[in-house]
Amino acid sequence: MKLKTLLSTIALSGLTLLSASANAFFGSKDEMRLGYLVKQPEEPWFQTEWAFAEKAAKDLGFDLVKMAVPDGEKTLNAIDTLAAQGAKGFVICTPDPKLGPAIMAKAKSYDLKVVTVDDQFLNAKGEPMTDVPLVMMAATAIGERQGQELYNEMQKRGWDVTTTGVMAITADELDTARRRVDGSISALKAAGFPAGQIYRVPTKTNDIPGALDAANSLLVQYPMVKQWLIVGMNDNTVLGGVRATEGQGFTAQNIIGIGINGVDAVNELAKSQATGFYGSLLPSPDVHGYKSIASLYHWVKEGVEPSKFVEVTDVVLITRDNFKVELEKKGL
Ligand code: GLA
Repeated sequence: MKLKTLLSTIALSGLTLLSASANAFFGSKDEMRLGYLVKQPEEPWFQTEWAFAEKAAKDLGFDLVKMAVPDGEKTLNAIDTLAAQGAKGFVICTPDPKLGPAIMAKAKSYDLKVVTVDDQFLNAKGEPMTDVPLVMMAATAIGERQGQELYNEMQKRGWDVTTTGVMAITADELDTARRRVDGSISALKAAGFPAGQIYRVPTKTNDIPGALDAANSLLVQYPMVKQWLIVGMNDNTVLGGVRATEGQGFTAQNIIGIGINGVDAVNELAKSQATGFYGSLLPSPDVHGYKSIASLYHWVKEGVEPSKFVEVTDVVLITRDNFKVELEKKGL
C-alpha cells in the first residue's frame, strides 16, 4: 500500500472511531436529545418523574439527559452542557422560580425549547411566566384535601378540639407550596377547626432539617397544645414537623401528619411501628414526568406547541394500610 493511501486509511478509520465514540457519548446522531433538569434529585418525587421520562424516551425514541440543578449556577451550566451535546430542549423543575427569565434567555440563545414542571417561573416583577408551558399538580385542591383528611382523622379519633393545634409549616415564596398550605388551612376552617388554633411557621429550606427547625421553634411557643395536626407542602415538610414533635415526646397517639407527594413517604409508612406521620396524598409524578417530556418531544419533532398549562388533579390518600396497593396501581 502506498504511503498516501495508508495515511488516508488511518485518517479515515480515526475519523470513524472518533464519530463512533462521539455517538456513544452523545447518543445516535439521528436520535433527538432532550434534557430533564430537577432541583432536588434526592426526593423520590423527582426520581419518579425521571423514571417516567425515561419510559417516554423509550416509547418515543429519544435520548434523555437527566441533570440535577440544585442552584442557579448549576442550572445555567447545565443548559450550556445540554446545548454543547446537541440537545433540542429540556423540561425543568427550577431550584428558584425567580431564575425563570435567566433560564429562558439562555435557552433562547441556544434555540432550546423549554417546558416547566411542578414549579412555575416568575418574571422580574414576581408574576408567573404564563407563556412558558407548565405541568403541575392542582395545588389548592390537593391542599384542601390535606386539610379535610386531617380533620376527618381527628374526628375519627374523638380528639378534644380545644386542646388541639394545627402546625402549618409554610414555604410561601414557592407559589405551589403557598397554595397547598393555604388550601389546607381554609379546608380546616371550613370544616369547623378554630382559626385561632392554627399556627403558621415558615421553613428556611424545603427539606426535613429545615422543617424540623421551623417546627421546633413553633412547639416551644405552644406548650399547652396536647394534640397536633401537621400541615405542610410535601412529605419532607410534614416529616420534619413529625420528627420535631417526637423530640417533645409526642407519638402516633397525639399527632396526625399528612404529607403530599406519596412516593417520598414510603419508608415512613413501611416502618413496623406507626408514627405521627399518618399518611400522604399521592398525586401523579408518573404523569408529570411522562407528559412534560412527551409534549416537549412533539414540540421539537412536529412543531406541536404544548398546552401552556396542564393541571394534574388525581390524588389518593395513602396510609400504612393501603400504600403498597395504591403505589402498585400506578406502577410505582
Ligand atoms: C414542588 C415540591 C416537590 C413536589 C412538587 C410537585 O416542587 O418541592 O416536593 O411536591 O412540587 O409538583
